[in-house]
Amino acid sequence: MNHSPHTKQTVYLNGEFIPMADSKISTQDRGFLFGDGVYEVIPVYNGQLFSFQEHLQRLKNSLNAVSIQNPLSDTQWLDILNNLIQKHPWKDQYIYLQVTRGIQMQRDHLPADNLTPTVYAYTNPLKPVPEHIIKHGIRVITLEDIRWLKCDIKAITLLPNVMMKLAAKAQQADDAILISREGYITEGTASNAFIVKNGTIITPPNGQKLLPGITRLVIERIANSHKIPLIEQDITEQDLAQADEIWLSSSTKEALPVTTLNGHAVGTGKPGAIWHKIKTFYQEHKQAFIEGKS
Ligand SMILES: Cc1ncc(COP(=O)(O)O)c(C=O)c1O
Repeated sequence: MNHSPHTKQTVYLNGEFIPMADSKISTQDRGFLFGDGVYEVIPVYNGQLFSFQEHLQRLKNSLNAVSIQNPLSDTQWLDILNNLIQKHPWKDQYIYLQVTRGIQMQRDHLPADNLTPTVYAYTNPLKPVPEHIIKHGIRVITLEDIRWLKCDIKAITLLPNVMMKLAAKAQQADDAILISREGYITEGTASNAFIVKNGTIITPPNGQKLLPGITRLVIERIANSHKIPLIEQDITEQDLAQADEIWLSSSTKEALPVTTLNGHAVGTGKPGAIWHKIKTFYQEHKQAFIEGKS
């Protein structure tokens, strides 16, 4: 059986497990017409959903914030996602799931009452971050954060993120760190941001300007348990430029070292010592999770 991604993947769509090639949604789905929906990305290690409760809680928060009723119980979510994982042979995977407000035949900004949400989920192999990135880090530029003021909602409406990613690519950068209108760092285009200054890890406080990342949360817990100082504090562009280390974090990439900022070396120009520590502790944490110890 060919298990390469895309060809034989099974997806979950509205109560059914079907081949990805056969999965179809209505042109009148509000997700398609308005980007009216929310999503989650959940890593799976050795067949087990990582930080599932945290991801489920964030999904509920997103649904609640946009007034879409959660269509499934916690147990149903868990059953569907575990079922999906078991239908694929990869040890490490990442689940993408999204809930849109559903189909409304007459296009109208105002949602009709009692729509049935569209529920979609699929899984992909989760590949380790390439060795050259671990060794050399990534190049990032700063960009004005052009998004809305509800960035704590994990909305499928990602046009500004797509535009900012394109702008980064046009400048030969791997990604961008976004600066709010007030002059503070918010996050990456699809990741949270951290700096290290004089041995202290600093990350911007949660709020409406950034997504409360689950990887960020795990990093905070790891730093606390290993007594590595970590504070949540506003970071200016100048703080960023003078940082000893810069990282970006997300569920599929974990903590990534940024070694070039706007064409200049960050710190020594190599992934930093604190990043190395956190990376090692993160791998230990994952291993303990896989062995059922955390
Ligand atoms: C805008 C944004 N911020 C932060 C994150 C990191 O969140 P998590 O660690 O939960 O993957 C993501 C992940 O996709 C994101 O899209």
